[in-house]
Amino acid sequence: MNMDETVTAIGTPNIAFIKYWGKRNEKLNLPSNSSVSMTVDEQLNTKTSILFTDRLSADRVYINGEMQDVHGAEMMERLVSLEILRRLAGEKRKALVVSENSFPAGSGLASSASGLATLTYTAAKALGLKLTPREMSMIARRGSGSACRSLFGGIVKWRKGVREDGSDSYAEQVVRPNYWPELIDIVVVLTRARKKVSSHVGHGLTTKTSVLYKSRLAYVENAVARLIAAVKERNFETLGELIMRDSNNMHATMLDTWPPLLYLNDSSKEVIYRVHELNESEGKIVAAYTFDAGANAQVITLKRNVGKVTRLLGGIESVNDVIKLKMGNGPRVLGESDSLIDERTLRPRSG
Ligand code: DP6
Repeated sequence: MNMDETVTAIGTPNIAFIKYWGKRNEKLNLPSNSSVSMTVDEQLNTKTSILFTDRLSADRVYINGEMQDVHGAEMMERLVSLEILRRLAGEKRKALVVSENSFPAGSGLASSASGLATLTYTAAKALGLKLTPREMSMIARRGSGSACRSLFGGIVKWRKGVREDGSDSYAEQVVRPNYWPELIDIVVVLTRARKKVSSHVGHGLTTKTSVLYKSRLAYVENAVARLIAAVKERNFETLGELIMRDSNNMHATMLDTWPPLLYLNDSSKEVIYRVHELNESEGKIVAAYTFDAGANAQVITLKRNVGKVTRLLGGIESVNDVIKLKMGNGPRVLGESDSLIDERTLRPRSG
């Protein structure tokens, strides 16, 4: 076991092709439907360093240089993953956690997924626990549902499971990144503003109030199966249609929530129209947009069409940034020189 030693690891977000929206159990983060995502490469990443030490009387967490209120309601829910791991290891000492995201939080760029997956992975390593990625995915899920999918690289399925205790609700790899290396996720940053209603809160509102939500649940498991088949066949046309339809379907249930949840803005709609225009002019689906609980778009395409898609997006006035991502491999441990912790002062390392 690594005693009194800082462990640092890096993890990445994932973009859902079939979305997780709605929970059958809020405490355990058990989803009402299965979902499928692509884990992205390290251009967007979370780096996390963890030190278990008896020099602290309470956990101390810094995210992007800011000390968090570990007794705040949301932080406490998130840190349940750390608590579970500490109990598993029989560890009594408190943790110093320093985490840095390479992208803005709360803007629909999956910062909670990347953050909680990396926290779980790093803490498991720091505690010397020999857990499988599947076991870690179940623990990360408790902190943030979508995080469970970032424990694996490539294309990943999160099984909704049927058991009350959540023991069959975990993530698993569908294909490795090198199965379809041509697949690209273009992140289109339209706004860096924080969304008004977090997905954390949105899940429950839609489940409780949307009339359309029932029809989403009736279609979605079958869509998961068809999407996985399209990935295995490397059939981009079918994959692209399923991705766009699922994003639209989820956003329809969001609009149908009372009071309504409106995450898309005029620029998001511009992306939707332009992608459809491109596909029409090509006579087939060459690009597919998808939106999480935020206005920023992600456009999935194949390597050979990246130029075309980028030109198309370049014509949209409000595009702040375009980031082209490949599939990533999932989290990994970094070296000592990457540590974000100053062990002497128990603060983030400066610089
Ligand atoms: C729209 O995983 O952020 O991005 O489990 O409450 O932390 P919590 O929710 P979260 O929800 C993500 C919703 C989504 C779709 C997806 O990633 O599947």
